[in-house]
Amino acid sequence: MIRRAYEATQFSPAAQPDIGAIPDAGEGIEGLTEVFRCFLTGSAGLASPGMMGHMDTAPHPAAAFTDALVSAVNNNLLFRELAPFASRVEEMVIGDIGARLGLSAEWAGTFASGGSIANLTALFAAVGGFGDVDKRAQCALFLPECAHVSIRKSAAVLGIAASQVHVVSGDALGRADLSSLRTALRASGARRKVVVGILGSTVHGAVEDIQGLAEISRAHDAWLHVDAIHGGALAFSHRHRELLRGLDSADSVAVGPQKWLYVPRVSSIVWVKDRDRFDRELSVELPYSATGEAHRGRWGLQGSRRADAVTLWAVLRYVGARAVGDQVDRTIDLAGDFWRMLSSDRFLEPTHVPDLNLLCFRYRDNDENAMRLAHQTLGAYGAPWVSLSRWREQLILRSVLLSPSTNETHLARLIESLHRASS
Ligand SMILES: Cc1ncc(COP(=O)(O)O)c(C=O)c1O
Repeated sequence: MIRRAYEATQFSPAAQPDIGAIPDAGEGIEGLTEVFRCFLTGSAGLASPGMMGHMDTAPHPAAAFTDALVSAVNNNLLFRELAPFASRVEEMVIGDIGARLGLSAEWAGTFASGGSIANLTALFAAVGGFGDVDKRAQCALFLPECAHVSIRKSAAVLGIAASQVHVVSGDALGRADLSSLRTALRASGARRKVVVGILGSTVHGAVEDIQGLAEISRAHDAWLHVDAIHGGALAFSHRHRELLRGLDSADSVAVGPQKWLYVPRVSSIVWVKDRDRFDRELSVELPYSATGEAHRGRWGLQGSRRADAVTLWAVLRYVGARAVGDQVDRTIDLAGDFWRMLSSDRFLEPTHVPDLNLLCFRYRDNDENAMRLAHQTLGAYGAPWVSLSRWREQLILRSVLLSPSTNETHLARLIESLHRASS
């Protein structure tokens, strides 16, 4: 059954199977195989090489199998007694990936469930964590236009007043302009200032100048959080590590292995610089296990957590860090190839130069209606599929190149499908 998930050639399911109702009497193995069959036929085929529309792809099979084992063993990262081995793996993976990101030994981190929760956890620490709760109204947040919606959600959850959420103007991809940020920070009378930098934006994969953001944040006594949920995979890159420059000067960083490191949802890591600060802002006592051990559930916003670190570790052991880096670099190269193909196309054009493995594009005449109609024809019968996104009120087609089996042939077929749809 799992093998069939990887044999998906088609992104969109041909038809939706019936679901039925919860049966009164158990159906045993027959009911189970029917659930599996329906789930496979009714699901989006993320393993298809033509699936290039979101930050989602099939995980490495080693991760899928380990994930099943993680579910069966069901250890809980809340307490060391409930996850003795996984707690140690989590510590090792956080330390190793942190070092690959260029973070010094003074950083400490925890796994979390997905990018949004990782950002929320980091921003919770940034506004004072479990202390200073009555002073949230005195916090201000400065974010670029390209920030993921989870940053705004976090601001709302943390009680930062809407009037204190400042979107810093920036370039065509929504990366903050450094002098505008400097001016905004200088004008702010907030007691705590938090700046967000993006390393791999959701729409364009845009990378901000982290070093520049760090210098300005430090000069204005602001906390810099870097959302590297997508771009954190650069930790393994052989050729693009310069994009991580300045990360060690930030105050917190969030990375989402589920995006570009080929593990299943939902897996993320959040780090805070300075172990004492990490402990102070993010830890609470857990009185229901008073063994005195350093339970990993002390830190962060979640209680029970899965052993996602074991799944990530299994893939990294299976393929090795070098091959992961090769794949990250290969998908960035492929985005560059796609950019060249579109730049010389008669009907289509890229809307930006890719920083990473995302590339947005549109019809040269920018006919939104044609684009919407063309988009509806994509993905059928195994043809490639990209997403239809919106950026500054304009519709664009958005590609995210992730699958190891996607190559130039699939890109050429996508272009061909879009030509056909518009003729
Ligand atoms: C840059 C960035 N940050 C955060 C997130 C949120 O991640 P999640 O969907 O795992 O909550 C995303 C999701 O695509 C993202 O692109």
